[in-house]
Amino acid sequence: MTERRTSVDTTHKMTGHDFERLSRFIYGHCGIKMPLVKKIMLESRLQKRLRMLGMTSFRDYCDLLFKSPEGGSELVHMIDAVTTNKTDFFREPVHFSFLTETVLPEFMQEGDSHLRAPYTVWSSACSSGEEPYTLAVVMSEFERLNPGFKFTIMATDISTKVLDKAKAGIYDEKQISMIPLSLKQKYFLRSKDRAKEQVRVTPGLRSLVAFQRLNLMDERYPVRPASLDAIFCRNVIIYFDRQTQYALLDRLCRHIKPNGYLFLGHSETVHGFDLPLVRTSSTIYRKAP
Ligand SMILES: C[S@@+](CC[C@H](N)C(=O)[O-])C[C@H]1O[C@@H](n2cnc3c(N)ncnc32)[C@H](O)[C@@H]1O
Repeated sequence: MTERRTSVDTTHKMTGHDFERLSRFIYGHCGIKMPLVKKIMLESRLQKRLRMLGMTSFRDYCDLLFKSPEGGSELVHMIDAVTTNKTDFFREPVHFSFLTETVLPEFMQEGDSHLRAPYTVWSSACSSGEEPYTLAVVMSEFERLNPGFKFTIMATDISTKVLDKAKAGIYDEKQISMIPLSLKQKYFLRSKDRAKEQVRVTPGLRSLVAFQRLNLMDERYPVRPASLDAIFCRNVIIYFDRQTQYALLDRLCRHIKPNGYLFLGHSETVHGFDLPLVRTSSTIYRKAP
C-alpha cells in the first residue's frame, strides 16, 4: 500500500538541503550569517510565509524563490522575514549627546557660515525609523539654538516592511516614554482614538528624513564619495562575518568626508581592520583627514 503523506508530518519542515540553499543565498545577498544553529529560527520565521502562500514544503518555496519568475518579488518578503529589526528611540543615547555637544558645535565653527553646506547624516540600517527620527529631533533642536545650521538625513534599510513602518511614523506611546515631555509634545501627535495609545511623528519631522531601500551589500551606493558628514551604521554589522564587515566598512569609509564620523552599535568595532578611522570613543570613529 502506498503511504499517504499527511500535511501533519511534512508541512513546513525545513530539510538540511533547503536550509543550505536558503542560508547560502541569504549570506550572499544580504551578508547575513546563517549558521546551522539558526535553522529553527529561519524555519519558524519562514513558516508564516509558506502558510500565506498556501505552500506545504520548503522545497517548493525555494523553487519559487530561485527558479520562478516571481522569485524577485518573493525575495522582498523573505528578507523581511529573516532580518532582525530591534531598535528604539534614543538607543545608545551617548551617540546623540556626542553629536550635539561635540560634533555639531565643531561643525559650526568650521569655514565660512555663508558657504556652509547642510550637515549630512546617513542612517544606513534604519529599521522602523526610530534612529533617523531621533537624529531629526536632536538636530532640529540644535538648529533652533544655532541659527544658520542646516541638515539632511538619509535613512535606508534592506527590509521594505520596516521602511513602510518608518515612513508612516506611527508608534506605540510606550515607545517614546523615555523622550522628555517637551520634545514629545513638539514632535509627536497623539492618536485621536485614545484607546489605541499610539503617536505619530509630526509631518514636519517626517519631512526631514528621506527613506529609501538600500542593500548595504551593494557595490555602489546612491551617494557621492566623501560627501557624508556622519554615518550611523549601528547594530547591523554584528550579523555579518569579518570579511563582509571589512568590505562594508571600507565602502562606508569611502563615502564619509575627511574628519567625518562613523557610529557603530554597542557591541561592534573596527578593531583589527585596516581602515582610515581613528577611534574617538568605544563605538565612535573619525575618518582620518
Ligand atoms: C537590529 S536593526 C538596527 C536598527 C538601528 N540601526 C538601531 O541600531 O537601532 C538592524 C537592521 O539592519 C537591516 N539590515 C540587515 N541586513 C541589511 C543589509 N544587507 N542592508 C541594509 N540593511 C540591512 C535590518 O533590516 C534591520 O532593520
